[in-house]
Amino acid sequence: MAVLVTGGAGYIGSHMTYALLDRGEDVVVLDNLSTGIRGLVSEKAGFVQGEVGDMALVRRIVSDFKVDAVVHFAGSIVVPDSVAQPLRYYANNTVVSRALAEVCVETGVRNFIFSSTAAVYGLGDGGMIAEDAHKAPINPYGRSKLMTEWMLEDAAHAHDFRFMALRYFNVAGADAKLRTGQSTPRATHLIKRACQVALKRASHLDIFGTDYPTPDGTGVRDYIHVEDLIAAHLLALDALRRGGASTVYNCGYGQGFSVRQVICAVERLTCAPLPVREASRRAGDPATVIADSTRLKQELKWQPAHQDLDEIVRTAFEWERRFN
Ligand code: UD1
Repeated sequence: MAVLVTGGAGYIGSHMTYALLDRGEDVVVLDNLSTGIRGLVSEKAGFVQGEVGDMALVRRIVSDFKVDAVVHFAGSIVVPDSVAQPLRYYANNTVVSRALAEVCVETGVRNFIFSSTAAVYGLGDGGMIAEDAHKAPINPYGRSKLMTEWMLEDAAHAHDFRFMALRYFNVAGADAKLRTGQSTPRATHLIKRACQVALKRASHLDIFGTDYPTPDGTGVRDYIHVEDLIAAHLLALDALRRGGASTVYNCGYGQGFSVRQVICAVERLTCAPLPVREASRRAGDPATVIADSTRLKQELKWQPAHQDLDEIVRTAFEWERRFN
């Protein structure tokens, strides 16, 4: 039996591929390499370059590799692009996921893990967000993911098919052995940008908003180390294979760090001041986004091991320094 990892040449999917191989599973990656990088995929994994929405291709992969579970990472993730090109986002994230789910139902692949996002909650109410909080995404990216969650839920009611949707908060950091890391082109994420500035690959870091209702006025986020995120995926996969019920889980630590705290962590690491510029708020940015991950801890016994912001920043920096 093998696990099909869609988007396995991307940042998080390539970590999942290594983690599955590390514990002795067979893996086949399907990626169209539109943003993924072939070199991030372990040589021990099967690799197919192609479209996840190509149902005939996916049917063949399921049969050739004896796939029993799908972990679906492939998708588009740049929030401002989703506002500019909403239909492309609904195509890549929603329509493609629908086709993939249909092949799974048809071919009897019962276990499906879906990369969802905290963006399904929208602005939140400024506190910790639990899974049953109101869902009000404020951009097509978040909507395209929420629509997929709904499709999976309906499919799971109607068919012999179960899913777990993992709602990622702010994923950062890199594999401890530096086999893979964040190399997505045009990434705008704070920790990656800050590392690029520290490496003098950009002149300065913009701080988007200093007048938020947060302790130091800058945006607060729940940064989760990619290795802890992957640990959650492995637990979810095990639970599904044991017959666990379809559900959704928040993936974050329940701790928030501000933009200024992230900047301080980078400065601690490099022992040098980081050139920053105070800028106005970025459109659509909420003040505070923090996960209530009680459910993940209680139900799947998830025990995060890399919550230290300095470790998250150090691994991100090491990856950026050596490989980008
Ligand atoms: C967003 C999405 C998240 C998604 C991720 C994927 C929302 C609410 N969040 O995360 O669901 O998974 O993108 O791409 O839609 N910042 C700066 N300067 C920078 C970059 C960022 O000050 O150069 C600040 C931002 O204003 C924010 C924080 O840093 O307060 C984190 O930003 P970022 O890393 O871009 O992630 P989100 O926007 O939180």
